[in-house]
Amino acid sequence: MRILSGIQASGSLHLGNYLGALKKFADMQSLEATRFYMIADLHAITVWQDPEKLLSQTREIAACYLAAGVDPVKSAIFPQSAVRAHTELAWIFNCVARLGWLDRMTQFKDKAGKDKERASIGLYTYPVLQAADILLYKATHVPVGEDQRQHLELTRDVAKKFNHDYKVEYFPLPDTLYQGPGARIMSLRDGLAKMSKSDPSDNSRINLTDDADTIASKIKKAKSDAEVLPTEEAGLAERPEAKNLVGIYAALAGVSVQDVLNDFGGKGFGAFKPALAEVVVDKMSPISERLRGLLNDPAEVDRVLKLGAEAAEAAAEPVVRDVKKIVGLWG
Ligand code: TYM
Repeated sequence: MRILSGIQASGSLHLGNYLGALKKFADMQSLEATRFYMIADLHAITVWQDPEKLLSQTREIAACYLAAGVDPVKSAIFPQSAVRAHTELAWIFNCVARLGWLDRMTQFKDKAGKDKERASIGLYTYPVLQAADILLYKATHVPVGEDQRQHLELTRDVAKKFNHDYKVEYFPLPDTLYQGPGARIMSLRDGLAKMSKSDPSDNSRINLTDDADTIASKIKKAKSDAEVLPTEEAGLAERPEAKNLVGIYAALAGVSVQDVLNDFGGKGFGAFKPALAEVVVDKMSPISERLRGLLNDPAEVDRVLKLGAEAAEAAAEPVVRDVKKIVGLWG
């Protein structure tokens, strides 16, 4: 088993990133596998980034990995731009992927907005670089949140077409891991919108840097409804806010949604919200405390990143050499 995943180096992380990605990164350390977790700084510059801020964001995301329990001895933690082979393979994949595949990507449409002409070309070919990230390590498993589904499908398409066109069995078709209630965490202010770094309302998300009081107050203010919680999961179908809050509880407590409803079915949010706040504070406070410590120790974070970059480079180099040979490129 070879695992790769990454988080974009843009802004601070929230509970959605934790449950959709970081927690899985840490949990998967019990498996027999080789693990690569990168900070996607090349993806970040598909939209404008202040150069100094970008470097500090890269360090901050690395600190989040460590705070969430990713062990740098068991997993390579590295900045994507530290391993040149990512961009090299991305170019080759630009010549494998088809325009029609990228035209279907919904994230480009969302991020480019109405004025497509002014979006960077990098934003358009973003999923091709992501395919290169994954296949460069011949990853077999990719832990991500549900919003990455389309990008992972494109990665499989690139692997398939490369193998087919060059008549090789070189790249594995990676499996995406996004099961469970943490795969799609919604905004605390709107159960139909994804919890996101870019939401202007800070009350819409729980940040990894939030302290216990802030977390409790955000949950108290979270949008809910006037009904009691149902006793069966089906009863959450038309209640997005209730579904999200129960899902957050289940994902953090490590139980099923039905387990939560067995305990709270028939009770209102007056009873459920304080219990939820307790679980969130209980699980997230140790992480934010560790994170604060690491943010004051950039030398330790840099040491981890250097070590991770060396391991990633050593794994990536032979793959890019093989690929160049398969394609008929020089050197
Ligand atoms: P990014 O930085 O947007 O998000 C990082 C991870 O967090 C997950 N996530 C969520 N999960 C559940 N609920 C949410 N509300 C939520 N918001 C974000 C994302 O699914 C993701 O797993 N393109 C990627 C970064 C990337 C990558 C890769 C990932 C670059 N190369 C190779 C995997 C493999 C991105 O922008 O994620």
